[in-house]
Amino acid sequence: MAVIAVYSPKGGVGKTTLAVDLAWRSAVLGGMRTLLWDLDVQGGAGFLLGQGEDLRMRAAGVFQRDGRPETLIQPTSYPNLSLLSADESMRSLPVHLARLGQKRRLAQLAWTLRRDYQRIILDCPPMQNEVSEQILMAADVLIVPLPASPLSARALDMLRRDLMRDNGRHPPILPVMSMYDGRRKAHRMAREGAMEHFPVIPMASAIEQTAFRRAPISTFAPNSDSAQALDRLWRAIEVKLRDVAAA
Ligand SMILES: Nc1ncnc2c1ncn2[C@@H]1O[C@H](COP(=O)(O)OP(=O)(O)O)[C@@H](O)[C@H]1O
Ligand SMILES: [Mg+2]
Repeated sequence: MAVIAVYSPKGGVGKTTLAVDLAWRSAVLGGMRTLLWDLDVQGGAGFLLGQGEDLRMRAAGVFQRDGRPETLIQPTSYPNLSLLSADESMRSLPVHLARLGQKRRLAQLAWTLRRDYQRIILDCPPMQNEVSEQILMAADVLIVPLPASPLSARALDMLRRDLMRDNGRHPPILPVMSMYDGRRKAHRMAREGAMEHFPVIPMASAIEQTAFRRAPISTFAPNSDSAQALDRLWRAIEVKLRDVAAA
């Protein structure tokens, strides 16, 4: 089992969109039992998969001492893909976790699911708090979407330094150039510069459409450039996981 976190302290960089697509690829194309675990109060992952809302407000309760994630996990309409969705109860999660005083609660919960899932994909909230600390303890790899800008390379260095300072370690990071627009000179320059080796996800209407259709891109535009880019990213993650396991 491997835990893949789509992680950034920023909002609006494409985390949820990527997490949902990667989970779909892992489950449907990779044939791996996959859990998409939404840790953001906005609950966007379930929405993008076309799931109905669970109004019972129990998502944060999973983290309590006697919490059992299996009881809240729902199947989706896609083979091998399950969802643990977020709801407004997650607002109190940072406080709950701090009170619980177990830095590895999320890691522990993920471990209890190791026989049921080969991949757990975490859609992370856009902040650095107790929840993101737990994510760092639980993840085998961090996928970090970054805008196409020289500032992103600096932001990534800073993130690495912060993570090392606060924890002494961090999971391997796979940075991704997100929302790349090849018509823009600045984006092309960023791609030729410090972000040269990053996987690239284009800024694309087809990717935006996933939020209107509430379905993964490959269900309606499987041969699009965007679907291919997302496929390359998914494969790069699998290679990274193999490298990490071999190291
Ligand atoms: N590659 C992309 N091209 C175009 N729009 C995108 C792309 N990735 C995400 N978006 C759009 O950007 C907005 C923010 O994306 P989202 O995945 O919710 O980001 P985050 O989870 O980081 O806040 C959404 O409206 C989404 O549809
Ligand atoms: Mg999000």
